[in-house]
Amino acid sequence: MVEVPPVVLDRASRTPLSVQLADALRRAAAGAVLRPGDRLPSTRALASALRVSRTVTAAAYDQLLAEGWAAGRRGVGTFVVGSLATAPAAVRAGAPVPAPRPAPADLRAGSPCREVLDRAAWRRAWRAAGDLPPDAVPEPTGDPAFRAAVAEHLLRHRGLAAGPDDVLATAGTSAAVAEVARTLPPGSRVAVEDPGYGRVVAALADAGLQPVPVPVDDDGLVVDAVPGGVAAVYCTPAHQYPLGRRMAATRRAALVARARAEGWWVLEDDYDGELRYDVAPLPLLGALAPDVVVHLGTTSKILSPTLGVGWLVAPAPLRRQLVSRRTATGTRPARAGQRVFAAFATSGDLARHLRRLRRELAGRRAEVVAAVAAAGCRAEGDAAGAHVLVPLPGPEAEAAVLAAAAARGVALAGLARHRPAGPGAGPRAGLVLGFAAPDRAALGAALDVLTAVLRELPRP
Ligand SMILES: Cc1ncc(COP(=O)(O)O)c(C=O)c1O
Repeated sequence: MVEVPPVVLDRASRTPLSVQLADALRRAAAGAVLRPGDRLPSTRALASALRVSRTVTAAAYDQLLAEGWAAGRRGVGTFVVGSLATAPAAVRAGAPVPAPRPAPADLRAGSPCREVLDRAAWRRAWRAAGDLPPDAVPEPTGDPAFRAAVAEHLLRHRGLAAGPDDVLATAGTSAAVAEVARTLPPGSRVAVEDPGYGRVVAALADAGLQPVPVPVDDDGLVVDAVPGGVAAVYCTPAHQYPLGRRMAATRRAALVARARAEGWWVLEDDYDGELRYDVAPLPLLGALAPDVVVHLGTTSKILSPTLGVGWLVAPAPLRRQLVSRRTATGTRPARAGQRVFAAFATSGDLARHLRRLRRELAGRRAEVVAAVAAAGCRAEGDAAGAHVLVPLPGPEAEAAVLAAAAARGVALAGLARHRPAGPGAGPRAGLVLGFAAPDRAALGAALDVLTAVLRELPRP
């Protein structure tokens, strides 16, 4: 129950006390002093605190109940259900409450699909994690059960044979890249994909390194275009982000050959490698060249970025450097999410979840491809992951489509956002369409808008 909110009643006013009280409570909600879900004091307690009769407080609550800003449950109390903070002025003045507007649909890539997560299995994993006693000593490499579960996951789902000792827990991909970056000499140049994942580019720059954009084509990173003298190369070989193609086998071989010859680390971001539907996997860089590759995995796409859990498999000397840095600075990834992942994986729920997730995302992808084709456009990228690329004639068309969709309540992102050199760099333009975030019904509605917007594009 909330404290009695600050209310000043003017007993000399001609406005009835019950009306003044209802106004004051509405203002408290508008100023976020009261929030949806707060239980209001009983009419008796409020009357006694304000030194008014109970008829006054009961009449004020009745008014708020009638307006829909409060809800009552017999024997439980009266609760705030609405906040006036964002309501229009007419509502603040006491007009009827409008129906809430549906949130705009989000077709930007990045968020996971939460619709098919078995909530009972999820709860079981959290309960199992909570059943363990707290640890007395931080373990800078990560929870032992987590590292064992990741080793098993990598073998079963990614064809990478690594022992638990080869695995370090991380707080996710960007955090892991930032840690590795701090082991390199300040100012080192690191090749990044263009277009590519902006957060990793930012993490590298933030750690005092110099990202060097390298073009990507349909076969992945153009290895011949990586300049000499870099300390590391970051890439997304399983499913290039954002173009959506896997790196060709010849490029993989060329990349690890140059890495060995020129002393680079290769940062292999395997952010959605578990999600492939109709495309054969190629050997991970981490399997081809465990001596030069830092393989990075995350739970952000298969479960949720809010778990804050990822992993890294790297050569022993680099792992030792990372661990001694964690020990010296007293930093390590939080253990709770690792325990949840370990419990979810060892119970078999993760494997079941991945099967369900792949089925769902494959179905959604087919819907997206059909919606784009219905507008006479093409969706590019392998049948994998949770996004496709829809090429557009140029940056003006890209900006126009984003604006038209936004005006109809659908958030889209363009390729411009994924270029290290900024919008307008390079010849390609298009939409990077994510299909995991909305629920299936909202996805269908958003795709109708997308088809209509793409149909309005002027044809060359
Ligand atoms: C290319 C790429 N890598 C990695 C991630 C996940 O990063 P993190 O583990 O830091 O959440 C994402 C998520 O959007 C991504 O798009």
